Amino acid sequence: MELKSRAFAVEETELLLANGPRRFLYSVPETERMTDAGNGGDGVSGDPIRERFETGSRETVFRNKRLLDPETIIDADRIVGRDDQLDQTIGYLRTVLNGNRAPDLLLHGPSGTGKSLIINSVSETAAELAHADGTDFVPIEISCQKVTSYDRAIYNIVQQAAKAADVDVGVPRKGVSTDRKIDRLFEIVSNEFDAIMVVLDEIDLLTGSTSPNDAPAYSDVIYQLSRTTQLGLEDTDVSIAALTNDPSFMEDLDSRAFSSFNPEHITFPDYDATQLQAILDRRRDAFKDGVLGDGVIQLCAALGAQDHGDARQAIDLFRKAGEVANHDNAETVTDDHVRRAEEEAEREATLLQMQGLSAHKQIALYATAAVAGYARDDIDTIPNKVAYNVYTFVTDTLDIESKSQHSFLRYMKEAETYGFVRAQKHGDNMKGVHKYYTLANDPEVVLDTLEDASRLAGVAEETPDIKAVVNAQLAEFN
Ligand SMILES: Nc1ncnc2c1ncn2[C@@H]1O[C@H](COP(=O)(O)OP(=O)(O)OP(=O)(O)O)[C@@H](O)[C@H]1O
Ligand SMILES: [Mg+2]
Repeated sequence: MELKSRAFAVEETELLLANGPRRFLYSVPETERMTDAGNGGDGVSGDPIRERFETGSRETVFRNKRLLDPETIIDADRIVGRDDQLDQTIGYLRTVLNGNRAPDLLLHGPSGTGKSLIINSVSETAAELAHADGTDFVPIEISCQKVTSYDRAIYNIVQQAAKAADVDVGVPRKGVSTDRKIDRLFEIVSNEFDAIMVVLDEIDLLTGSTSPNDAPAYSDVIYQLSRTTQLGLEDTDVSIAALTNDPSFMEDLDSRAFSSFNPEHITFPDYDATQLQAILDRRRDAFKDGVLGDGVIQLCAALGAQDHGDARQAIDLFRKAGEVANHDNAETVTDDHVRRAEEEAEREATLLQMQGLSAHKQIALYATAAVAGYARDDIDTIPNKVAYNVYTFVTDTLDIESKSQHSFLRYMKEAETYGFVRAQKHGDNMKGVHKYYTLANDPEVVLDTLEDASRLAGVAEETPDIKAVVNAQLAEFN
């Protein structure tokens, strides 16, 4: 439940980001909103929902929780540890203020290293400064994870350009060619603006297959957007800022796109613990005065850096620690809350990954965990053959067609790439060489998690004989 509502909240804000005005930090304090929600005050009694609202805890350790929302664009004075990247980005965008076209940019680095933050903050400020100088420079951002094809991406850009110019979109979403939409985009840009910068966030995810020439969709988007420069269209300065974790996407650009897109590279390395600590420290006012235990920020930063220096993860952990404290009705946030938040985050991450697997992959992993979980004698390693036979038992019971042993091996290979299992081969001349798995997590945790996953809901009740099957299969194998 908790997970679902969180997912919805994220989707909602991302949609806003993709399609509409960005969300800036408003300073409505959390406490104010919470109090509004709880204060009915008209004396209606006997309403059980209302009563629960009233008697439930309304205390919170947060003062302004939005500061810890990953979608909030924070004020510039809260940005720490990205001086080089800021200097470079500002240097490139300064050209707009001089009336010239900004160069294309490629911002690359691992997740949570500030790519979206820096390009959004710098381009917004550039737009304000340009505007004050009488230059209409407009940044347009699309989140490529949300658009499925070349046509959709272009339409999304037209929509945003039209909105920023306060003119009609002028082309329908469906029923006209993408070329018509591009023409309309250039028309809006040349009539209404001096320059635009299209920010293609997570560009490598724009791989939609409708591309006419088999190249990934981002290749066509890049080619079309850089055509203005090639054609030398007057008054139509279009620059591209591509953001990615994986700069190798450049290898799949078709030759036309490749030759027209020569971006300036800006690299975003991981943060270290000291930088993460400074980032969190500048958001300590998300919490009420005096509620943060001494070591809390340091611990969140240390745990964040341990993984891979992702600021999003560290901020999430900081927020979650506060939520755990609220849940406990605690007045202060302690190291223990941070550790519990960390455990919860790990469980959620594993759950999300496992839930993302297809049904057969989930059943394959479930069957493998069942072997370890239900074996009468403790076993260190799970024979592939036994796991496969349990898998066919589960699929048969659920009335799903079993896939081949070969497919099963592929499913488990994927489980291995996610780190859910490790595989090794061993054996002897007598029994032959066999493949074995070791689970990364406790088998009960894997079984519980998958039983919670929508695809396998109720699987435990439907397979009451699984324990007997596991032990019969193990006996046969040994
Ligand atoms: N240098 C920084 N100072 C303050 N906050 C930061 C900094 N870098 C990142 N953050 C915060 O961390 C979160 C993630 O940053 P951002 O979205 O910019 O990462 P990203 O590099 O775009 O990641 P991804 O590749 O996953 O899209 C945001 O909430 C952002 O405000
Ligand atoms: Mg990003």
